[in-house]
Amino acid sequence: MSKDDLSKKVEAGARVALKNISKVYTTREGKGVHALDDINLDFEPGSFVACVGPSGCGKSTLLSLLAGITPPTCGELYIDNKLIEKPHPKVGVVFQSDLLLYWRTILDNILLPIEIKKLNVKNYSIKAKDLLKQVGLDGFGNKLPTELSGGMRQRAAICRALIQEPDLLLMDEPFGALDALTREQMILDLQKMWMTLGNTILFITHGIEEAVFLADRVLVMSPRPGKIELDLKIELQRPRPWSDTHEDPKFSKYVRKVREIFESQGILVDH
Ligand SMILES: Nc1ncnc2c1ncn2[C@@H]1O[C@H](COP(=O)(O)OP(=O)(O)O)[C@@H](O)[C@H]1O
Ligand SMILES: [Mg+2]
Repeated sequence: MSKDDLSKKVEAGARVALKNISKVYTTREGKGVHALDDINLDFEPGSFVACVGPSGCGKSTLLSLLAGITPPTCGELYIDNKLIEKPHPKVGVVFQSDLLLYWRTILDNILLPIEIKKLNVKNYSIKAKDLLKQVGLDGFGNKLPTELSGGMRQRAAICRALIQEPDLLLMDEPFGALDALTREQMILDLQKMWMTLGNTILFITHGIEEAVFLADRVLVMSPRPGKIELDLKIELQRPRPWSDTHEDPKFSKYVRKVREIFESQGILVDH
């Protein structure tokens, strides 16, 4: 990315605050499942926050609380100092599976949130085409999801999340189902996109290296009930080129720090 592109970065990110957040689910058998325990966090506007943790530790719960889909049992969540009580119009979500509707074209899938909100679809279709161009899907708007590869479909799902210019983008293991090469390209493209848009991102992943590569800050969670075990600031210059960054001793040091937490939890065992 050129310096010119960098200067385009707009401060469009939301400030996010979680205060004393706990979540206990009640199962159908009436049992309590303590998913999150007393989480306190603040995300700076425009920051890229990654969250890693073992399966079932409450990562997706954290995301659905911020998306306004699930209410917390205790505590409060704020976006730009406003209490979250329902889905916020300036929050976009990307999941591991693209969740595209197979009978709608790619363009119509991207415009779905606009249709649901009864906004003017025509006004947004130019923007949708522009987004497709930005993610390398120029000319694919009239295709059906089944005509695209997994990586391409996930790019379309990202466009659908970006159509309303979200100040906060929530991503739940978005590249988890992709092959290694596609994943690498998506990571690089996401970095570039975020540096241009300047929104706040919460990126949930199982990949320690992916988290360190992308984020300003990596949150490491404990097994359930999820707590923040480590809040690690990543001080690597941006833009981060793939090879140079992975070869940087600082990068390895951060990866090792996160790995050590998993080792101490007994989640990673080095024989
Ligand atoms: N709707 C639900 N009802 C009951 N338990 C749930 C529900 N959603 C999630 N859980 C439980 O809460 C815990 C955290 O889940 P989740 O947030 O999906 O974890 P992660 O995304 O880290 O794998 C898990 O034990 C899961 O089984
Ligand atoms: Mg999950």
